[in-house]
Amino acid sequence: MFKILKRKDLADTIKLFEIEAPLVAKKAKPGQFVILRIKEGGERIPLTIADYDGEKGSVTVIFQEVGKTTKDLGKLNEGDFISDFIGPLGTPVEFPHHKRVLAIGGGVGVAPLYPKVKMLHNQGAEVISIIGAKTADMLILEEEMKAVSDQLFICTDDGTKGHHGFVTDVLKDILSKDTEFDEVIAIGPPIMMKIVANITRPYKIPTMVSLNPIMIDGTGMCGGCRVTVGGETKFACVDGPAFDGHLVDFDELMRRQTMYKSEEQKSLALAEERGEHKCRLD
Ligand code: NAD
Ligand code: FES
Repeated sequence: MFKILKRKDLADTIKLFEIEAPLVAKKAKPGQFVILRIKEGGERIPLTIADYDGEKGSVTVIFQEVGKTTKDLGKLNEGDFISDFIGPLGTPVEFPHHKRVLAIGGGVGVAPLYPKVKMLHNQGAEVISIIGAKTADMLILEEEMKAVSDQLFICTDDGTKGHHGFVTDVLKDILSKDTEFDEVIAIGPPIMMKIVANITRPYKIPTMVSLNPIMIDGTGMCGGCRVTVGGETKFACVDGPAFDGHLVDFDELMRRQTMYKSEEQKSLALAEERGEHKCRLD
């Protein structure tokens, strides 16, 4: 069993949990993820590692309540336990020679972006970051990103904070004046990552994205997380989740992500019927 050491509500539906998991914390590296289950027989949830502390033996994950299981997870509190916390999984990312990087995070995608920016900052690289969310209330890790970025641009879709518009507007503006970047790192909704990759392609700036397709086993056995990269089938759980954004078939990724939408809606509706989940709109 794994204890929830800290819970922080970052936004209405976005929660941060720091979980006691010394073996995972000891081995974790930026770019890796965990798969957790709230209880035996429950649904597996893959979550990118947002931070880790090897000395304290803790791993931080950030999740958005989107389906029944993440809503159930969001009901847990400090001191509660979850049954499984497997990891670290996936291939870590490394940037040993990078001097200057542009980092872009959209919505909950800022969570997996943060450890990469922190690593680059600690290595002495200059990092310019752009983070965005639908509204000011949904912006996460602003202070943390500010602390590890040389410059931080904020965007909101509704203009409640920073630039009124998408992160890709600021990206275009920066690249129109300055293209001297070793890499652009973009993590967020697939449509955002697709547009970032389309913007950086003509400039030939290497662009890393992190994919979060449907995952089941997380070990390359089930094929649930398959994505097409450079015309080849890859498994995001073992070959990724980070890939060259210029080679990813984002349209296929977006199609596959909606595959179980009706099952997810049925499961939520059933939980509502049983009174397990109270709709916030009631
Ligand atoms: P969101 O829809 O609120 O979008 C976040 C930001 O992305 C927006 O504020 C905007 O700046 C940008 N964006 C959105 N649509 C755009 C468009 N059409 N063109 C240009 N920019 C656009 O995001 P959300 O609701 O927080 O969802 C987060 C997404 O991140 C989910 O789809 C989730 O699956 C994904 N995610 C990915 C990872 C990963 O490791 N790849 C991890 C966590 C979450
Ligand atoms: Fe099963 Fe990747 S999650 S192969």
